[in-house]
Amino acid sequence: KTFKIAVIPGDGIGNEVTAEGVKVLDTFAAIKGNIQFEYTYFPWGCEYYLKTGNMMDVNGIEVLKGFDAILLGAVGDPSVADHVSLHGLLLKIRQEFNQYINLRPVKLLPGAPCPLKDKGPEDIDFVVIRENVEGEYSGVGGIRFENRPEEIAIQTAVFTRKNTEKVMDYAFKVAQKRNKFNKVTNVTKSNALNYSMVFWDKIFKEIAANYPEISTETNHVDAVSMYFLQRPESFDVLVASNLFGDIITDLGAALQGGLGFAASGNLNLEKEFPSMFEPVHGSAPDIKGKGMANPIAMVWTVKMMLDFLLEDEDTAAIIEAITQVLLEGKSLTPDLKGSAKTHEVGDAICEKLKGL
Ligand code: NAI
Ligand code: MG
Repeated sequence: KTFKIAVIPGDGIGNEVTAEGVKVLDTFAAIKGNIQFEYTYFPWGCEYYLKTGNMMDVNGIEVLKGFDAILLGAVGDPSVADHVSLHGLLLKIRQEFNQYINLRPVKLLPGAPCPLKDKGPEDIDFVVIRENVEGEYSGVGGIRFENRPEEIAIQTAVFTRKNTEKVMDYAFKVAQKRNKFNKVTNVTKSNALNYSMVFWDKIFKEIAANYPEISTETNHVDAVSMYFLQRPESFDVLVASNLFGDIITDLGAALQGGLGFAASGNLNLEKEFPSMFEPVHGSAPDIKGKGMANPIAMVWTVKMMLDFLLEDEDTAAIIEAITQVLLEGKSLTPDLKGSAKTHEVGDAICEKLKGL
């Protein structure tokens, strides 16, 4: 079977890591023999914006509809305001394609550096389900009396019953499937956010009632941040709003060795539209063009894409190949105290993959 993949390398290190992701996809396909990937590249991002005034083609959403999946590097450049680049491409695709689930595994691989000295791979292994199309990032709001002393900025969070129910339900399904502790942690802030998060907790309870075999825990997001450091081993599945999920997954990334390890899938579970896969990190302007970017997050992202496209195919070999490279310690980027280039790490992972 041939899968049509739309590739949006984007800006900065997005380009550098995407090339390695594609390399691993092709290696995986060559080993399997019965699948193929056909790539179409889109030069969208900040450079495109500076030339055309748009982050993506005006009919970009229409064009992307024909693909099986979208692989995205990262967007953002100091030459364009971040809210323009983010809303013009990334958030637009997530929302237009109703990719309402952002699935973010937090798993420490053997050989990856964990800042918690007394914790190991057996302690750090959970997933965050982040609501991905509404909430605090719905884009609703406005500015009045701009640049006057009485200036007001309003940013409204939007939570719908339909979407919240689907997100919660997916979290419980993931807990069932993982079968680790059969536990879902609800990340909230309903003490202060007396409408949105009270609603969020209510829907959580309603959906939990359908899964009596899954235990639940509800914690405020600030406490969850502390527990990530104090007792990461207690987590299995967490469900969080768009903003909270965004923040706690960078903290989660730190637990698993840094942003160079954090992968994500923006999922439309019904497959009405293509889903999009991207590393959690941004375009890292501070290291762009130097071959210093760690491509592991992107390689892991590609594995998530494969899991979504080929439901019953075993892709564990990709994680195994990454682990072998980490344990060997020869091909590591500077964030891991190595001196290898991005492409050398990608090559090393492909070599290991071929040997498995
Ligand atoms: P960032 O994730 O780009 O970088 C944060 C820090 O982590 C930097 O020191 C960077 O060098 C390092 N880092 C990130 N990925 C790395 C990798 N693969 N290997 C080694 N080091 C890595 O976040 P920052 O600095 O807040 O944002 C930079 C730009 O990226 C901004 O324009 C921002 O809007 C955009 N951004 C885009 C995202 C996306 O496309 N999904 C997500 C986050 C930020
Ligand atoms: Mg983020």
